Amino acid sequence: MTRFLIDSDTAGDDVASLLFGLLWPGITLEAITVAAGNVHLHEAVRNALYTTEIAGRPEVPVFAGAGSPLLRPLVTAHYVHGDDGMGNSNFPAPVKAAEREHAVDAIVALADRYPSDLEVIAQAPLTNIALAVHKDPSLPEKIARLWIMGGSNNALGNITPAAEFNFYVDPEAAHIVLQAGFETTIVPWDVCLADAVLMREELEPILSMHTKLSEFYLAVNAAAWEFMRSDVETGGVDGIGHPDSLLMAMAIDSSVMVESQRCFVDVEHRGELTSGYSLVDVNDVLGREPNADVVTKANHDRFKQMLVELLKD
Ligand code: RIB
Ligand code: CA
Repeated sequence: MTRFLIDSDTAGDDVASLLFGLLWPGITLEAITVAAGNVHLHEAVRNALYTTEIAGRPEVPVFAGAGSPLLRPLVTAHYVHGDDGMGNSNFPAPVKAAEREHAVDAIVALADRYPSDLEVIAQAPLTNIALAVHKDPSLPEKIARLWIMGGSNNALGNITPAAEFNFYVDPEAAHIVLQAGFETTIVPWDVCLADAVLMREELEPILSMHTKLSEFYLAVNAAAWEFMRSDVETGGVDGIGHPDSLLMAMAIDSSVMVESQRCFVDVEHRGELTSGYSLVDVNDVLGREPNADVVTKANHDRFKQMLVELLKD
């Protein structure tokens, strides 16, 4: 039984990943920790709490963490996910509240409780993870695997030409985490764009499903779908992107990962034009010790099959 902790800046695509963690058989989601990113911390916490309730799993604890990056002012993505981060669905407030313990303390405590038996899904700016490493420098040895949705492998970013959002928002945190010694798998933006966008015709099974979860999924992703359609960077793609849920699906079912390459990866945090750029040394030019398995291809059809399976109940 694989145990997971998901660190989330809960908006549309984060939600589908949380649903995998909350509902997929054969795994345990020990906790959801929250950082600011897509939306402000209080919004991301509210969205995570609501998701646990919609999934019928209110007992899974949610911990509030960093409200801003380590050194920089927060940059949010309300323009992608809507004012509430949930496709402007304006759901009612969740019934339950977040735990009193800080997310960073919860990450360290869970790693101590389940040494070498906890996998961390990092689908937000890496602020909480970096602070947890600062609190407990031995954390990387206790975590079985750190899965990161972030960066772009020698390809365009999604918030600047150089940078993907999670690494752009807190590049110092990304640099700290990547050099900390975790067993790390990275799913970069270019793979998410290539292998985890479901086009309108592929969404038909979900559009015609009319279950509580399918309607919830469509509602929270409505704004992001509209953004993909209209955004020049994606070239007006009529579909929904799934960076975070691709990461989670891969952690649950290894067949979703088709190809990966072990490389040295670091993140630019001193640059002006390149802040948040992920250097992925695919040709080992720098001779630096490789520190991450970088996914280069995912199984689109298996991911789609898992998502439809997840939402049909
Ligand atoms: O660049 C995409 C990533 O940034 C996703 O995790 C999305 O939810 C945002 O956090
Ligand atoms: Ca996210």
